[in-house]
Amino acid sequence: MKIILLGAPGSGKGTQAVKIAEKYGLTHISTGDIFRENIKNQTELGKKVKAIMDEGRLCPDDVTCELVKDRLSKNDCKNGYLLDGFPRNLFQAGELDKFAAPDKVINLIVDLGKIERRITGRRSCPKCNGSFHIDFIGDVKTCPTCGGELVIRKDDNPETVKERLSVYEKQTAPLVDYYTAQGKVIDIDGDQSIDDVFSSIVKALK
Ligand code: AP5
Ligand code: MG
Repeated sequence: MKIILLGAPGSGKGTQAVKIAEKYGLTHISTGDIFRENIKNQTELGKKVKAIMDEGRLCPDDVTCELVKDRLSKNDCKNGYLLDGFPRNLFQAGELDKFAAPDKVINLIVDLGKIERRITGRRSCPKCNGSFHIDFIGDVKTCPTCGGELVIRKDDNPETVKERLSVYEKQTAPLVDYYTAQGKVIDIDGDQSIDDVFSSIVKALK
């Protein structure tokens, strides 16, 4: 099974990816998590993309596509993958079609007016890549899943969220039409509870 999770920033891609990966035994690949890991470790790649990510713009296509191609060639992707945050524009989608076209594209639809609250209340765990919200876990400092230290992402502020949403609308939203033309899109109402979103995805994948 080769699945792409598509949706605006804060639509719940990361939250659902963890649950889908566990249920179907898929490898969860989040380009955002890979970039953040590189920034944390101050690698050459991390240095290249840090300012771009802090501003909410997209990292360069050549670097991003190369990274995903390399990641998908690893053994743990032999049985399929779950891509979260890639592709993000038509160029990246065209490249992916050349080396590992998806079977299904899950499109998480949320009211864009609710995104800022979701993102500004988010707490992220760099250790297990969990994504949580203070409305559900309270303003705690440790990850409820693995006990790691929770952080607030540098790009999770109202100004950067505005830029990320604008990038999404201009560059990423056209992918819905691109994959609809291929008959691969599954629309999911992302404005339900986390568990109900997950149940809708499982039902749709049957
Ligand atoms: P990335 O890390 O992919 O961020 P994003 O797309 O902006 O998405 P988020 O991670 O913010 O949101 P999410 O949909 O995962 O939501 P989550 O589940 O956490 O990318 C970051 C940056 O990296 C980009 O800006 C770019 O610079 C770079 N980048 C990455 N990929 C790239 C690419 N392919 N090309 C170029 N550049 C790239 O949920 C959000 C919050 O809502 C959480 O607090 C969660 O608890 C809560 N929540 C989730 N579901 C629900 C629900 N059903 N009800 C209520 N609350 C919910
Ligand atoms: Mg995410």
